[in-house]
Amino acid sequence: MIAPDTIQQILSVARIEEVVGDFISLKKRGVNYIGNCPFHEEKTPSFTVSAAKGIYKCFGCGKAGNVTKFVMEHEHLTYPESLEWLAKKYNIAIANVQLSPKQIEEQKSKEQLLSLNQLAKEYFVEQLWNTDEGKSIGMSYFKERQLSEAVMKKFELGYNPDAEQAFTNYAQQKGFTLELLKSSGLTTQQRNADFFRARVIFPIHNVSGRVVAFGARTLRKDKTVAKYFNSPETEVYHKSKILYGLYQARNTILKNDFCYLVEGYMDVISLHQGGVENVAASSGTALTIDQIRLIKRYTQNIVLLYDGDAAGIKAALRGLELIIEEGLNLKIVLLPDGEDPDSYMHKHGAQGFNEFVLNNAKDFIRFKIQFSMEETKADPHRKAAVTKDLITMFGKIPDGFIRGEYIKEFCSLMQISEEMVIREVNNLMRTALKKNAAIPSEDASLLQQQSVGNFEEISQPNFFQNPDEEQEKNIIRILLEWGSKTLSNNKTVAEYLFDEVEISLIDNVVCAKIFNQFLQEFEQTKLFDSSSFINSPDEEISAFVAELLKDQYLLSPNWESKHQIFIKDREMNFEEDVNSSVHHFKLKKLLKLINQNLQKIKTEKNLEEEIQLQYIHLQLSVMKADLAKASGTVIRK
Ligand code: UTP
Ligand code: MN
Repeated sequence: MIAPDTIQQILSVARIEEVVGDFISLKKRGVNYIGNCPFHEEKTPSFTVSAAKGIYKCFGCGKAGNVTKFVMEHEHLTYPESLEWLAKKYNIAIANVQLSPKQIEEQKSKEQLLSLNQLAKEYFVEQLWNTDEGKSIGMSYFKERQLSEAVMKKFELGYNPDAEQAFTNYAQQKGFTLELLKSSGLTTQQRNADFFRARVIFPIHNVSGRVVAFGARTLRKDKTVAKYFNSPETEVYHKSKILYGLYQARNTILKNDFCYLVEGYMDVISLHQGGVENVAASSGTALTIDQIRLIKRYTQNIVLLYDGDAAGIKAALRGLELIIEEGLNLKIVLLPDGEDPDSYMHKHGAQGFNEFVLNNAKDFIRFKIQFSMEETKADPHRKAAVTKDLITMFGKIPDGFIRGEYIKEFCSLMQISEEMVIREVNNLMRTALKKNAAIPSEDASLLQQQSVGNFEEISQPNFFQNPDEEQEKNIIRILLEWGSKTLSNNKTVAEYLFDEVEISLIDNVVCAKIFNQFLQEFEQTKLFDSSSFINSPDEEISAFVAELLKDQYLLSPNWESKHQIFIKDREMNFEEDVNSSVHHFKLKKLLKLINQNLQKIKTEKNLEEEIQLQYIHLQLSVMKADLAKASGTVIRK
């Protein structure tokens, strides 16, 4: 882990206009810089950078954030990786946090596993290309499967000879322990033998290109042995988090903005050989949420290539809702019966493949709807079950508009009432949200009131998960924006907020964290420094604040001439902004308390307790009336 001091140092040195300037050319315009957005195609610049605030925003595609976010998005890196990137640019030596002995041990053993895998890969490659057995058995197998030497090199394919312990001995000579060999899966537990004997080898890379595991195919036709052996789960290989071929595919995925998903090692390799390089494989298992998120780092669009036989269709219909749920676009191509992408590519060539895919790609949801229709035609008794199944799927589509379109299509095909289906989907989503986000019941009932008969409402999951988030965010925004300004009651805005806003009422964790941190710093130093939050070493805070403030400090280039006026206007009226934000925060919280209390009254059996609750209700109602009266008036001294 990078030490907090180092993070602080990196963030204090990194200049957003310099970092962005490494990739696009920026021009100074007013207080900001503008240029052509690197995240989408455009001719007139709408990408705006505030050097003073350390944030950027594109008015074309909406991307916004601080310097680390920019590096993460542009270079497709994780947060720690983006810090390393910046450290390199600014020549800052990275100090790591003092690791505990246990952590050091873990890191060491991971590193050892990776170097053992590296050694194994080199050994297998050497065997394939430069030994008699490798050439006559391994190489001729690959040739039989029509692989080119170039693609074999690209995927670092290899061969493990038919010898009991050849590799195990070799690795031990190189200083690796038997224990490590066993834990890597390269050596068997009981007989200390090579695990992948007499098989061709497919090294499995992580996205940084390190070999984390192996797949190995038998060359025997014998159906009693498993066709593929795979490395077991290790500290460096979590099957559910790796996609085969993603390392070799990622640049092309970015370029083409979609990714083919196939089942097997050979499918990936043959597609590459045919010039289709944006492809990854789940390697025979059902797709996992982590694998989907891995793809999502590169594209929103997935095209599944499956075998068109019954088993293929079944597999296609299972588990894919995860992809829908993540908001990704999914298309499916069913290959002719008995073909897999590998065999199809070899039979029909790249052009035939591309043509077939283009003509046969079906929208996944539509495919599932149509498939279900066929099913109910054959068996009308299944209509209810099929409808229920599809309603479940609709409930997982995050985009309200898209969801509505599919429901419309489904209902007209099935000739059932759209209203009924919408109602069912709404109910389902509400229950799911309640379960997932653990919305307190009073919120849920509030939601119910708001969304009766209103389908669009439910298409805003954020709003739904946290109805008072807006008010809380607003409190943080005015704190950061106006904190040190003096109100007409002679208090600073921050002081006023510390008095008026009860911190325990702030539910959003990041908001509460910022408020708390501000409060603590203020108590110690009596100073306000909002800029430290944009560059906070706490990623959650910095990302949140950059998002929150982007609209305040960055104006669309078209607005540039009005910019100064706008800022002046805002500044003149900051007191009103503060007033109304505090008012709405209080009102929202009060309504919530009232609702909670009413709920309790409904279920309370004990009369005395109930009277107590009624009394509380009265008090809360008075507070609400007071608040309403005070709204629009100046802050009370
Ligand atoms: P397939 O049986 O479709 O194999 O399994 P394939 O990819 O077409 O292989 P070839 O063309 O016969 O060489 C699809 C994927 O399922 C996994 C592998 O990742 C394989 O590529 N699998 C299959 C295993 O892990 N173990 C097995 O025994 C079989
Ligand atoms: Mn195959």
